[in-house]
Amino acid sequence: MCGIVGYIGDKSALPVLMDGLKRLEYRGYDSAGVAYVNGGGMGIYKTMGRIRDLQGILPEPLPEARMGLGHTRWATHGAPSDRNAHPHAAGGVVVVHNGIIENYQQLKSRLQSEGHEFASDTDTEVIPQLISRYMKKGMPFEAAMRRAILDLKGSYALGIMSDQAPGKLFAVRNGSPLVVGFGEGEFFFASDIPAFLPYTKKFVFMEDGQMFTLSKGEARLELLGNGGGTPVKKPEAPGFKVVEIDWTAEMAEKEGYGHFMEKEIYEQPKTVMETMREWIDDPPGMLRALGITSRMILGWRRLHIAACGTSYHAALVGKYAIEALAHIPVDVEIASEFRYREQLIEKNSLFISITQSGETADTLAAQREAAKKGAFSLTLCNVVGSTASREADSVLYTRAGPEIGVASTKAFTAQMTALYLLAVALGTERGRLIAAEAQTLIGQLKKMPLLVEKALGSARRVEEVARSITDSSSMLYLGRGINYPIALEGALKLKEISYIHAEGYPAGEMKHGPIALIEKGLPVVVVIPMGSLFEKTLSNIEEVKARGGRVIAVTDEPASLRGRADETITVPPTHPVLSPFVNVIPLQLLAFHTGVLRSNDVDKPRNLAKSVTVE
Ligand code: F6R
Repeated sequence: MCGIVGYIGDKSALPVLMDGLKRLEYRGYDSAGVAYVNGGGMGIYKTMGRIRDLQGILPEPLPEARMGLGHTRWATHGAPSDRNAHPHAAGGVVVVHNGIIENYQQLKSRLQSEGHEFASDTDTEVIPQLISRYMKKGMPFEAAMRRAILDLKGSYALGIMSDQAPGKLFAVRNGSPLVVGFGEGEFFFASDIPAFLPYTKKFVFMEDGQMFTLSKGEARLELLGNGGGTPVKKPEAPGFKVVEIDWTAEMAEKEGYGHFMEKEIYEQPKTVMETMREWIDDPPGMLRALGITSRMILGWRRLHIAACGTSYHAALVGKYAIEALAHIPVDVEIASEFRYREQLIEKNSLFISITQSGETADTLAAQREAAKKGAFSLTLCNVVGSTASREADSVLYTRAGPEIGVASTKAFTAQMTALYLLAVALGTERGRLIAAEAQTLIGQLKKMPLLVEKALGSARRVEEVARSITDSSSMLYLGRGINYPIALEGALKLKEISYIHAEGYPAGEMKHGPIALIEKGLPVVVVIPMGSLFEKTLSNIEEVKARGGRVIAVTDEPASLRGRADETITVPPTHPVLSPFVNVIPLQLLAFHTGVLRSNDVDKPRNLAKSVTVE
């Protein structure tokens, strides 16, 4: 989704803003722009395309300015084009925006009827136009801005400045993420932390309804709509929480890998280890630290999980694990569906949201709905200080570090790690897992970083297989039991990165429809670990073979697949309930290599945004 950056301080603003925009590229965008205000007035440069295209239209030498705004746009209202790119300006007021102004049509018609001429098709442009309207009516710029914001309905994070207030930068949040970075006598703001990690580790995560006025050396925070905006806090004041982030700038860089996605796939032994480190020797202690008491657990009749995309697939693995180890029913639902139906959630039950970014609009809405019903909300989240983490009753952090590749990989295995810890802890607390069983599982989980490392050893073989599917137009992914979500995840990764159509299906369900798709040469990836479902899955392989499909098996039992699968990718043996960890690795690699072979931009696949902050 759109990315916002803002800077005010002693540095030359445009290079800092361009650097920040580059670091936000992963969010997905189709156009980019920057603007500055200095003693001589203001300047705006914007274009459809990439940051390098924006670089290409900047003047040489760069205009000197100590403050400015930048934006990467992911089109919602108005096609990607130069004129729709941000920043948007009217009457000397410049605005960048992430989110959607829901009442923009109404506001635009009113402004047009009053003679305002629009230069774009965006919802955003109503904001500077509205501010200039109030200024024309005699209000000074700041009062006009505060008044105009009260007219806006929808979700927005805004960066605002004006040539009539040089030396002041405004950051406003309502429903879309915005963080303010505190440097030495300088301030930054951005949609996400990585934008300014090289400059500061100190951030304030803005809340809805807040506005920061940033000037050199001072940050003032106010609540909008509070009598027109009265300053209520200064940085030192209590309640103004500066969070120190332990991510480094290097963590958000490629470190010698060609792509972020590849780097992140290879980081998984470490990120799985980091996520379990704190609690692996005491999962029940983790529950207590999360504020979950034995009494609460005994009162739960079922658990609810909502998430989107890859995080939803992790939730499905979590369902299998929690039901198997803790014997408590788990309802898993896609967050965008959850929020719009009657939620039969009992008061005091447990609701878990799973979100890497902590900013996914549908997941946040589901979490809020569940809280309204009186559920205890726990979020499994990767970003300290994100909206989900601030709003939930409790947070279990995944420790994947910044995930920059748009396609989620290391966050997925980190989420599974957290869910397994939860499953073992709940199983123990509910008396369903005896100590010896829990110890065996914990022992196996401790080995997982090593086993994931071994699974990464399949990369060469996977690359060969990728060559054989590069020209395919469609594929099927099959799995059973706890590996059915892994088939879904493998298919999702392939779609996103290679643009090859792929369906994930429970292997046993194939005969009820998708078998009709099988024709000579159709690649069918089958996840088939040794265990109780091995023979059944072998039968599914026979069904595929009998219809001419080309079977690519992912297995820890290659000997039994000889002569049955066309291609075999071997992963290390694991405890059956933990097998998703090793099975997902070759599927991530398969998507990655296929995308690279097809010359796709795997870190920024078309149409996708890293963090989906609008509905
Ligand atoms: C897929 C992917 C998305 C995200 C989804 C949820 O590779 O990255 O499907 O998993 O948009 O995002 P979070 O976890 O940030 O809520």
